[in-house]
Amino acid sequence: MTSMFGNSNVLSSLTHLLRKLSKVFSFLPEAKNMSERVMTTDKLLLFLNMVKWFGFRKLYWVIRPGLEWLAESLINAGYIYPSFQQSLIKRPISKKLLKLYDGDDGHNLDERQFFLGFGLIHYAFIRNLKPKNILCIGSRKGFVPAILALACKDNGMGLVDFVDAGYDQDNHEKHWSGIGFWKKEDPAKHFAQIGVDGYIKTFVMTTKEYAEKYPHKHYQYIYIDGDHSYEGVILDYNLFWPLLDKHGFMSFHDITERGYLDKGVFGVYKFWEEVSKKHHAVSFLLPQSAGLGMLQKV
Ligand SMILES: C[S@@+](CC[C@H](N)C(=O)[O-])C[C@H]1O[C@@H](n2cnc3c(N)ncnc32)[C@H](O)[C@@H]1O
Repeated sequence: MTSMFGNSNVLSSLTHLLRKLSKVFSFLPEAKNMSERVMTTDKLLLFLNMVKWFGFRKLYWVIRPGLEWLAESLINAGYIYPSFQQSLIKRPISKKLLKLYDGDDGHNLDERQFFLGFGLIHYAFIRNLKPKNILCIGSRKGFVPAILALACKDNGMGLVDFVDAGYDQDNHEKHWSGIGFWKKEDPAKHFAQIGVDGYIKTFVMTTKEYAEKYPHKHYQYIYIDGDHSYEGVILDYNLFWPLLDKHGFMSFHDITERGYLDKGVFGVYKFWEEVSKKHHAVSFLLPQSAGLGMLQKV
């Protein structure tokens, strides 16, 4: 019989082949949970290391990009790992957000599933609030700013003002894990990679400089992830709380982080203990995260 795609025998052979291939990639056929299955490449490497099959190990690294491409294609087509399909947020865009914009562990991510963790909370807030103006302070390579801009794009409205001093681990004592990215790269080009450059404007300066330059701006959503010292986060709160509209939200990353980051001492947790008594506050204290806090101006 001939279908609109041509000979149905060809189709059924193709389906058969894909099924076979899918078995090849399910090294542990029906492992109990997803993390067991996605660990298989690591386990394979470990095994090859242990038995010292160096020739095979090298071969593995040579063919790995091709295998990854094939595995991705099979996942995207739904032939393997059906649980990796995301029904609301599509896998290719989540992957770009994590890889190009460098989401870090503190956001409650799952890099194996390209799960966006706190990014989804920000996205959901922006989709629901439909803010005209958003302020975002601090990001290493743009993970949260890109998500905020994407939510504006999906809303068909809104603009993110993204402020980062472009501090670098090599030449700033209190870089807070910054890599000087915003001084080295063109931010508009960077955000254009997912088509959100029209929804975000980058200001490479300190928050103090920004607040002095734009004292009359107003926001409905503010995200603070810049200077993580006690004094630094209080400064940002004092600079920007007056710019937040009534019913707007101000969120803070790293409300549970303690100790040192190079020469900086984390102080957001202390600030959060104090400020959350004064305001309508919600803390997201999720297990794989550095904590996210939200204040609503009522
Ligand atoms: C790298 S982020 C922290 C990591 C973050 N959780 C992420 O998702 O990328 C901290 C950023 O804040 C910036 N920063 C630190 N102090 C600042 C200040 N006073 N004004 C503006 N940006 C600042 C640094 O340049 C750095 O890029």
